[in-house]
Amino acid sequence: MRGLKTLALLGAGSVLGLGISFIFNTAEARKPFTEEDLKLMNEELIALVKKGDELWHSPKLGKNGLTCANCHPDAANTNPHTFPKFQDNVGKVATLREMINWCIERPLEGKALPEDSEEMKALEAYAIYMYRGYTLRPGDNTRAYPPVRVESGPGYP
Ligand code: HEC
Repeated sequence: MRGLKTLALLGAGSVLGLGISFIFNTAEARKPFTEEDLKLMNEELIALVKKGDELWHSPKLGKNGLTCANCHPDAANTNPHTFPKFQDNVGKVATLREMINWCIERPLEGKALPEDSEEMKALEAYAIYMYRGYTLRPGDNTRAYPPVRVESGPGYP
């Protein structure tokens, strides 16, 4: 009996403990970000976009001297806002990362990147950043939307 009571007490104690830590964590999460926080977070993002921009213009992803920018200047026609979508050339619903690898393997004749690699994240970040402001249109294969808005240059500060 005593053992059971101890167990029940322990159980109640851990439920209480979880409840308290939940309340504290939620309070923590609700704290608004300071200007300094926002600045630092944006700097981290821009650093990743810059890394993507460099890779976009680098022949080292492939083996034939081509870069992504040869066919997709300023990330044009990569349409990150339309993913995931059925992709005719792979015969299935594909993600943006799968299409980035498709182009690395085919036009660039390179080796596919691990989908969770820093390089893949950087390429994805660059393409999406260049299409900022576009409405999400998952599955849209109509191409009935304006081409990438950025006229020239990297398009970020
Ligand atoms: C020689 C030209 C060429 C190069 C170089 C090239 N691509 Fe592509 N890319 C294409 C073509 C053509 C398609 C269209 C394939 C299709 O949808 O049938 C495409 C499609 C894509 C798509 C999907 C767009 C959509 O709306 O379906 C993405 C994303 C993409 N490329 C990213 C890249 C990246 C990243 C690189 C560099 C690693 C790259 N491409 C290099 C020609 C190229």
